[in-house]
Amino acid sequence: MAKPLVSLPLMAIATLLLISCGENPITAADPANERAVNIGETLYGEHCADCHGDNLQGQPDWKVRTADGTLPAPPHDETGHTWHHNDQLLFSYTKLGGAGVLPEGTNTAMPAFGEDLSDEQIWAILSFIKSRWPIDVQQRQSTLNKP
Ligand code: HEC
Repeated sequence: MAKPLVSLPLMAIATLLLISCGENPITAADPANERAVNIGETLYGEHCADCHGDNLQGQPDWKVRTADGTLPAPPHDETGHTWHHNDQLLFSYTKLGGAGVLPEGTNTAMPAFGEDLSDEQIWAILSFIKSRWPIDVQQRQSTLNKP
């Protein structure tokens, strides 16, 4: 009878650990991960919607360079070209900004978010963006992630 009694405190600690570490870290752009999509939706509203639009619609005339040589923010919905890129590029673009990804000297208005957002938060935002694409677009984009 002594054994189970001794292990009780250990079990309590194990349970506590399980609860505090219960949430899996978000490490991918996964539109089927509801928790990631919900977190991403909030973060998108706070950090991205100003330029890319409340409904992911982008800025007007987004294909036409402005007077300062930058492009307006493109839509992130299926009418844009976000889904033409694989997950890793979308992640790098968000973390490093246009300046971190485009050829040197390119004029870009896309800021880097590596200082303001954790990797997990960036993956959550991308999960949300992908969740807004029609299923056939999601499937076509996912083929770009295969090696
Ligand atoms: C200040 C305006 C601005 C904000 C805020 C902004 N973007 Fe952008 N974003 C742009 C512009 C402009 C481009 C167009 C490409 C370029 O000029 O580098 C762009 C392009 C992108 C691209 C690559 C282009 C593509 O294929 O769609 C991604 C991905 C992207 N933004 C994600 C985000 C995410 C995620 C957020 C929020 C965390 C965000 N952006 C916030 C302006 C912005």
